[in-house]
Order: sequence, then structure tokens, then C-alpha cells
Amino acid sequence: MSKLWSGRFQKSTHKLTDDFNSSIHFDQRLYKQDITGSIAHAKMLGKQGIIPQQDAELIQKTLKEILSDIEEGKVEFDVAAEDIHMNVESILIERIGDFGKKLHTGRSRNDQVALDMRMYLKDEIQTLTEMLVALQRILLNLAKENSMTIMPGYTHLQKAQPITLAHHLLAYVEMFKRDKQRLQDTYKRTNVLPLGSGALAGTTYPLDRDFVAQELGFDAVSLNSLDAVSDRDFCIELLSNLSIIMMHLSRFSEEIILWCSHEFQFIELDDAFSTGSSIMPQKKNPDIAELVRGKTGRIYGSLMALLTTMKSLPLAYNKDMQEDKEPVFDAIDNVKMCIPVFTDMVRTMKVNKNKMYEGAKGGFTNATDLADYLVKKGVAFRDAHSIVGKIVFSCIERGIGLEDMTLDEYKAVSSAIENDVFKAISLEECVNKRNIIGGPAEEMVKKAIEVNEALI
Ligand code: ARG
Repeated sequence: MSKLWSGRFQKSTHKLTDDFNSSIHFDQRLYKQDITGSIAHAKMLGKQGIIPQQDAELIQKTLKEILSDIEEGKVEFDVAAEDIHMNVESILIERIGDFGKKLHTGRSRNDQVALDMRMYLKDEIQTLTEMLVALQRILLNLAKENSMTIMPGYTHLQKAQPITLAHHLLAYVEMFKRDKQRLQDTYKRTNVLPLGSGALAGTTYPLDRDFVAQELGFDAVSLNSLDAVSDRDFCIELLSNLSIIMMHLSRFSEEIILWCSHEFQFIELDDAFSTGSSIMPQKKNPDIAELVRGKTGRIYGSLMALLTTMKSLPLAYNKDMQEDKEPVFDAIDNVKMCIPVFTDMVRTMKVNKNKMYEGAKGGFTNATDLADYLVKKGVAFRDAHSIVGKIVFSCIERGIGLEDMTLDEYKAVSSAIENDVFKAISLEECVNKRNIIGGPAEEMVKKAIEVNEALI
């Protein structure tokens, strides 16, 4: 097939050039955006009298037929036609001859590809947002069922203070809330129409850009033609959003992997979301969580790849930018696999409330509360800290917890201590006394669940 741009060439391209230069094997997924964009462009060309109205109508009709033929698998793309834009245009010309040759009036592949990517990303951003909402729903439901499921909270992965599973889960609800906000913010900057920027310097035709923007559901039109064809910030922003989402999923995955280990036994993953070992019959492995954790590296890689591709590119379009697609598509595909499988894994896991409670009981998670108790009895916090430190040390030596000390033993350490100490250091009390906004107390957690439910 002769190339649409072959006029000034004396020779045809080498097969190696075609293979190397061609992007059709990965940009063919943009066929719908490409054709939809072309239909709007053709409609506008007709309306403006830039091409005859009848020709514009024939082009639109044929493009619609091509779209449904592609959807029915009736179209074969051609590597020699390089990319999705020239494939669609060649098919159009094949079908309606000279009329089809009028479509590309006042347009370049440079503004066309920017348009296609923006349209594609707009849809994907909405899909990703919905996936995050579904994950948040599952977390909120699980939090409701576990508003008094006491577990140890950690710092440095050392037991610190008692919290509840609900409180822990709500931490992730907050993270995914920010992820959604970031996606929506990226959406705003993606929702700008680049078409009409031409190759780099706009066009002499009286295009109606606002009309095209309206046809395609864009909020605004770009204000600088050089920037519009060379900007891939919206792709980088999305990759950055996806990297942060994966970082959150990866942290959660790490905890799930720990929690289902024999050492923790806080949860058990459902068989349907675990895998076995080919040699060790007893094994039940958290492969899903590990793979989500593992894929995080690949998403960061895509972000770094595109940042590096864009670095030092002079204005305006450079073919380097064709390298934007694979990392963006790969990252989107993988995050779209990760979120739903992760959601279902969490939805189906069993919570071992007893083990969590036992975990909170060991490790002196109520030591801060004992110190706070002493403060309430008039001891200065620094003295209280030191007194409790000594008590903890002797308990460790005796192999008991703070709640196992007798009142006499407490009195021997500090006369300020009375019988009400046992209530003060009970785990339930430790949790529910933390009834500050954002704290783990049941009443606060219930409020946080309500607030978040209203938001999603
Ligand atoms: N396939 C190209 C890309 O993805 C389309 C734009 C090509 N423009 C050009 N001037 N060669 O970036």
C-alpha cells in the first residue's frame, strides 16, 4: 500500500523501517476515539463549508460503518499504514475514494493523536474512579462489622497502642479517597481539546474548535498550538496517580501478607483468592497480594519511562512521543486488574477477631494508658513514663501483662494507683477513650464511616 505521505518520496520505505516505525499493534486500541474524533471533525468541516456538506456526510456515514466493522472484527490493520490514524484514513479512502481524502483537511496526526489519547484517558479515569469506589465500599462494610474488633496498632512494626480493625481499614479509605481526588483533578486537565492545533502552528482554515469540543464533550479548547501537540503532562499525571494508587495497594498487600502468616493469623484469605505450592502440600499462599505488591514496580517503571522520554524534547511534536502509549496502556491495564481482584480478596477474607485481640493484649499496648492514668492521678507525665517503663520491665521478666499485676503490686510502685486502674488499662477503654476526631473510639469510627459513605 502506498503511504498517505509518499508524495515527496522516490522510494518506498524499508520493511525494517515499517516495522520499527509502526505503532498500529499497540495504538489500534484507540480506534474508537480516533473515529469518533474524525466524525466530529468531518461534521465541523461540513458545517463551516470547508468541505461540501454532502462529502462531510458521506465521510461521517462511512466512518460509522468502519467503526462497527472494526467492532465486529471485520477489519485487518496494516503495519505499512503505520498507526491507527492512517489505517482508518486509508480504509476510508479505500471505501469512498476521493471524498475520503478530504477528511484530513486542517488537521495533523499530531493534534489527532493528542486528541485520541485525551479521549481514551478520560474514559479510563472514570473507570478507575469507579473501581476505587467499589473498593472503598467493601472497606467501609468491613469496617462496620469490625468497629470494636480490637487489634494492635504498630509503629516500626512493633506493637504500639490498641486500635480497631475498623480504624485500620479507614486509613485506607482515606488513601483511596485522595487517589480519587487526584484522578478527578487530572481529569480536569485532560478534558481540554487539542484538535485545531494542526501539526504545530494551528491552521489557516476557519475551524470551529468550540463546536468540536462540544461534540466530543470537552470543557475547553487548548490555547497554544505548540503546547497542545507536545503536551503529555496529562499522561504523566495519570501515571503518577496510578503509581500512588499502587503504592497504597502495595502497603495494604504487605499487611495482608503479614496478617495471614502463621505468626500473625489475623486473617485467612479465601481459597478462591489464594494459591497452593507445587511441592509443599500444606501451603496456602497470598499470591494475589504479592502480585499486586510486585506490579507496583512496573507502574513506577512506566512513570519513569515517560518522564524520561519527555525530558529534553524540543517543541513541538517529536516521534519520541509515540513511546507514550505502551507505558500508559500497560499501567492502566495492570491497575485495572489489580483493584478489582484486590477488592474481592479483601471482601472474602475471614477476620480472626480472637487472634487480633490476643495480639493487642500482648506487647504492652496499654502502657501509654497506664502512664496517662498516673497523670490523671497527679503524677507528671515524664515521671509516669518512667514509672510505667519500670513496671513493664518487671512484667517482661515475670512473663505477665500489665493487667495481670495485682493492686498490691501496683501500690508498691506508686501509691497513686487504685483499683480503677484495671478498667483504665483494659483494651476496650484504651480504644474508646481515644474519642478525638480521627481516633479509634467506636463512636468516632462510626462517624467516619458515615462521613465517607456520604462521600462515595
Ligand atoms: N503514531 C504517532 C504517535 O503515536 C502519531 C503522530 C505521528 N505524527 C508524526 N508527525 N509522525 O505519536
